[in-house]
Amino acid sequence: MTETITGTDRSAGITYQDLLDTDTHPVPEVLRRVSPIDPGATTIPIERYISQEFHNLEVEKLWKKVWQMACHEDDIPDVGDYFTYEIADLSFLIVRAKEDTFKAYVNACLHRGRLLRETHGKRATELRCPFHGWAWNLDGTIKEIPCQWDFPHVNPEEESLPEVQVGRWGGFIFINPDPNAESFDSFAGTLGEHFSSWPLERRYKEAHVSKILRCNWKVAQEAFMEAYHVVATHPQILAGIGDANSQYDVYGNFARAITPNGTPSPHLAYDPSEQEMLDAAMDVQFEEPSKLVVPDGGTARSVTAAGQREALRPVVGNEVDSMSDAEFNDSFYFTLFPNFHPWGGFNRIVYRFRPNGNNPDESIMECMYLSPYPEGEKPPAAPIHHLGPDDDWTDAPELGMLGRVFNQDTYNLPRVQLGLHTTRKESIVLGNYGETKIRHFNELLERFLDQE
Ligand code: FES
Ligand SMILES: [Fe+2]
Repeated sequence: MTETITGTDRSAGITYQDLLDTDTHPVPEVLRRVSPIDPGATTIPIERYISQEFHNLEVEKLWKKVWQMACHEDDIPDVGDYFTYEIADLSFLIVRAKEDTFKAYVNACLHRGRLLRETHGKRATELRCPFHGWAWNLDGTIKEIPCQWDFPHVNPEEESLPEVQVGRWGGFIFINPDPNAESFDSFAGTLGEHFSSWPLERRYKEAHVSKILRCNWKVAQEAFMEAYHVVATHPQILAGIGDANSQYDVYGNFARAITPNGTPSPHLAYDPSEQEMLDAAMDVQFEEPSKLVVPDGGTARSVTAAGQREALRPVVGNEVDSMSDAEFNDSFYFTLFPNFHPWGGFNRIVYRFRPNGNNPDESIMECMYLSPYPEGEKPPAAPIHHLGPDDDWTDAPELGMLGRVFNQDTYNLPRVQLGLHTTRKESIVLGNYGETKIRHFNELLERFLDQE
């Protein structure tokens, strides 16, 4: 591997900001922002990834207190549609109560506590408990108590379902179980500014795959928060990815990484041609071997962008002409604390990672594709395709060629979990810059866990 010491605190090779200077189109202002993390902790106690006590603490101090993505609005397109959202051993019921009104309730009957709903469903006119039949209206007010004569001590006015705060962003529904939490908009801060050119609310959910992983949820998501692993885990793409030239920024409760494509890794021992960079980038990003040719004097990035402008024009419209090469080439991967990972540009990925029940050694990883669609022709949201811990990502053909890449990523993860159980070290160690997003996540996690 070349480039292990550069004499500076950044990698060899072109910086992302310098790469933007070579763009053939105007670059959006948000890509010009640079907001590196401050110096701080670079070690994380291993106990956080393997202990039941730490998991229990997360349930009390994090999951019961934080804004978290519960579902997509298009999962419940009609009035009366509902969706259950599980986090650890907690369950919440998200209901489309009116055309544009979403409610979230603690998913437990107020009589003797049964889950009101076990899974999602369509066009309910009431929420009736299957045990003894207590029923609520979609707005959460009580509708009926069977044998109400026997409950003179129960005041129906006080039997509305306990509500949970709801926030909306980019077509997703977020909930926060803490009634005293700040608003979602305040929590998300300037995240919306970053997506103003790529509004997720104008995408539809083309694919949704959920897979059980045998590792802690933080082990899983932290593997998708840096490009540092590319050199060892995905060596086949090095000719077309500026892995170590990624830019990492932090902003309040979210962070972003930008990994440039169509530019060579500083780890390569040779200088690939623009054609080799194009072929490598196309193979990974656009799911088919490149048929494009770089003209004399052209670059891989401009050729990719020109091809993508034409491919997306029928769907996105002529606004593609005002978009930069960067927006068609690069990977912009955001993390809104604690576990929501929308990608920017036209990279369709949105990830979410959660614990699997109360088991600190298992997690649920979801990959959704949010794709643009022609105005007025929105397709329905894809249902969830469930994969078990031993299933292969390529068992979900809707993910295309990325299934192979996800296999490379997730192959490491149970082996990380086992290594964390066996190591003699008490903490893992992180790079100052290349692992910015993991450091930022853990700083925010600590802030939640320290709260009274
Ligand atoms: S537990 Fe729900 S009606 Fe009895
Ligand atoms: Fe990866």
